[in-house]
Amino acid sequence: MPNALLLRLAGNEHLRHLVETASLTRPVVDRFVAGETLADGLRAAADANTQGMGAVLQYLGEHVTTDAQADAAAAAYVASLEAIGSSGIDAHVSVKLSQLGLDVSFGGAVSRLRQICATATLARTRVAIDMEGHDHVDQTIEAYGMIREEFDHPVLCLQAYLKRTQADVEALAGLQPAIRLVKGAYQEPKDIAYGPWKTRDSFRRLLGVLLAANPYTAIGTHDELMVKEAIRFAHRKDIPIDRFEFQLLFGVHRDLQTALLEGGYKVRVYIPFGAQWYPYLMRRMAERPANLRLFLEALARG
Ligand code: FDA
Repeated sequence: MPNALLLRLAGNEHLRHLVETASLTRPVVDRFVAGETLADGLRAAADANTQGMGAVLQYLGEHVTTDAQADAAAAAYVASLEAIGSSGIDAHVSVKLSQLGLDVSFGGAVSRLRQICATATLARTRVAIDMEGHDHVDQTIEAYGMIREEFDHPVLCLQAYLKRTQADVEALAGLQPAIRLVKGAYQEPKDIAYGPWKTRDSFRRLLGVLLAANPYTAIGTHDELMVKEAIRFAHRKDIPIDRFEFQLLFGVHRDLQTALLEGGYKVRVYIPFGAQWYPYLMRRMAERPANLRLFLEALARG
C-alpha cells in the first residue's frame, strides 16, 4: 500500500501550491512526467520505441468538474490518437474516467470514452482505462462492459489490493477482457483493501487466472518478485509470449525494462504528459520512501 500520510497531505491546497511553484522540484517532476505537451509525450513514446518498447500515453488530469473540462480532455485524447495513427508510433492511450467527466455524469463520460475508442480503432490501436479510487470502481467496470461490447481493443486496469477484484475478474470473464493488473495506488480503507503482503498474494492469484484465460494481459508492476513469478507461471503453463506484456511507469526501474527486453519479453512504458501532473506525482512519491526524501529535500531548498 502507498504511504497513507503522503496521499492525505496531497489533498492540501497549500502543499499543492508549494510543490507546483518550487523550481527545485522540477527535476523530480521531469523524472516521472514526459513534459507538458503532446509533442513531449510523442517524443518520449518514439524514444521508447527506439529502445524496443511500446508506449501508453496518458494525458494527465482527473476529477474534472465541468463538461467543458471533460470535453477538452477527450479532445486531447483524440488528438493524441490521430498523431499516433499518422506517425506510426507504437502506442496506445490510457484514460481516467473522472477526467472524462464521470463525476459530472456517467452518460457523458461513456460517450466521450466511446468517441476516443472509435478514434483508436481508426488509428489501429487501443484505449486503456485506468482504475481510480474505490468509489469509482463500480462505474468504471460498468463503462468498460458497455464499451467492450462495441470495441475489441479496450483494456481495463484492475487493482490487486482491492478484496473485490477476484469477484470482478470472475464477473468479467465472459467478455474475454484485456486487463492491466496493478497493485493499486490510492489510499483505501482497510476493510476493502489488503496490506502489502496480501496484495502480493492477490496479485499472484489474479495473474494466474488472467494469464491462463485471457487473450492479453498487461502486467503493471516494478516488483521483481511479481515479474519473476509471472514469467515462471507463463513458462510452466506454456502461455505464448505474445499473450502478455510487462508495463512499467516512465522513469521507474529502467534496469528492469532492460532486463525484460533482454529476456525477449514485450515491454510497454506508461508515459504521462500534460500540465496537471501534481496528483500523479504525489502518488509516485507515496509509492517509495526514497522518492519522498528526494522530493522533500528539493522542496526545502527551493
Ligand atoms: P512496489 O511498490 O513494491 O515497487 C517495487 C519496486 O519498484 C520498488 O522497490 C522500487 O524499486 C520500484 N518502484 C516502485 N514504484 C516506484 C516509484 N514510484 N518510484 C521509484 N521506484 C519505484 N495504479 C492504480 O491504482 N490505477 C492505475 O490505473 C494504475 N496504472 C498503472 C499502470 C502501470 C503501467 C503501472 C506500472 C502502474 C500503475 N499503477 C496504477 C500503479 C500501481 O498500482 C502501483 O502503485 C505501482 O506500480 C507501484 O507498485 P509496484 O507493483 O511497482 O510494486
